[in-house]
Amino acid sequence: MSQKISIPRGTNDILPDEIFRWQNLEDKARTLMRLYGYEEIRTPIFEDTGLFKRSLGPASDVVTKQLLELKSRTEDTVPDGESYSLRPEGTAPIVRAYIEHHLDKKEGLSKLYYFGPMFRGERPQRGRLRQFHQVGVELIGLHSFQPFLDAEAMALSIRLLEGFGVEGFRLKINSLGSHEDKKNLSSILRERLKKDVRNLCPECQARFERNVFRILDCKNKECRAVVARLELGDAHLSPPSKEYFQKVRAALDLWGVAHTVSPHLVRGLDYYTHTVFEISHAGLGSQDALGAGGRYNDLVAQLGGPKDIGGMGFALGIERILLAVGGGETRDEGRVTKLDAFIVSLDKEEETKAYTAAFELLNELRRKEIAADMNHTRGSMKSQMRAADKSGARYVIIIGEDELKEDIVTLKNMASGEQRKVPQSKLAAEFNKVSSVKS
Ligand code: HAM
Repeated sequence: MSQKISIPRGTNDILPDEIFRWQNLEDKARTLMRLYGYEEIRTPIFEDTGLFKRSLGPASDVVTKQLLELKSRTEDTVPDGESYSLRPEGTAPIVRAYIEHHLDKKEGLSKLYYFGPMFRGERPQRGRLRQFHQVGVELIGLHSFQPFLDAEAMALSIRLLEGFGVEGFRLKINSLGSHEDKKNLSSILRERLKKDVRNLCPECQARFERNVFRILDCKNKECRAVVARLELGDAHLSPPSKEYFQKVRAALDLWGVAHTVSPHLVRGLDYYTHTVFEISHAGLGSQDALGAGGRYNDLVAQLGGPKDIGGMGFALGIERILLAVGGGETRDEGRVTKLDAFIVSLDKEEETKAYTAAFELLNELRRKEIAADMNHTRGSMKSQMRAADKSGARYVIIIGEDELKEDIVTLKNMASGEQRKVPQSKLAAEFNKVSSVKS
């Protein structure tokens, strides 16, 4: 027997039994995005590796440890000296597309949303995958009322989670300030951590010089004890940055968005400036972030775009949302497309007259936009009715010897059990009243 090939570690198949949960979530997200004035954008799932190095930061964990780089056998696909990587996140590719297509020349703000798979070579565990999916938004453009837009983005992330049925999450926010303020924050952190460097894990000892912010998120027990003792506030912020952050909080209050300020929240990607936020859920264990985001005022210029274009956005992890919501509806309750009709055909042994008539009718029904299917086994009435029941169809159309003779079908309403004879020519009209496809 040939050896079985298994799915790569840290990835999932999404089977028909659970796809409805994804489709329902996507439908809700699309409805809310429209309500908030966002339009969808789709970018490739791989990009020039340099894009991620420049935006997420050459010393970030995502770039140093998690980028999944593509290898090719032919120079044609990945020319010598070039490198492509699967996207670990959506912000940098969208900013690249924004610059490439001169979206800044369009009037006003670009309000973009996206769904899609992201890839990070992390150690898989509950809620942490190598291929995971995000739904996110990016708000990019020249704008003077940025604090209000920060609040709008955070409010939308909460609204989405509520729409998906998640309960018991918490919004934490902080401000990193401008580029200069971030440098101040690094200095403050190094100064405060100096005496404790020896007590940090080897990785954080290296981070002390290279990427001091990351020490704040280390999961190591000793590092956490050191970090817990750190009293951080807003001393790194310049007066205008402090004022900006106050305006963000006031705008959140205006919309009644509950939040807590968490000075330890710094985020793992380099592009953030000013507002950063994270939404956590205690039920998720160590991978407790349902989503996160923040402002990135320098990124467009940094990637070769026009100056003075700011950005703000967030991404929610779909697998984590589904974990937080739990089992929920069953497949049948949640089914996105229900069949209108399922055809059962009953032939005498060795005959295929009813089966052929059913096959012909199937085509006719589908052409008239009636969602239909049929049974392709020569089962008994009982086993075919079982299959019809399993399909979730609202009506069963039965074609047997008698029906063929009279040019009729027997139509059974699966909810009420009511059964009646309908001339073949009138069948489509019956469904026009009830078709789910048309409504
Ligand atoms: P992030 O915090 O790296 O931010 O990811 C956002 C969310 O994606 C996380 O909160 C989590 O729910 C989910 N996620 C991340 N990594 C994994 C993983 N390995 N397995 C499962 N889920 C995961 C970003 O990606 C930024 N691009 C967000 C953003 C948009 N900032 C501004 N605009």
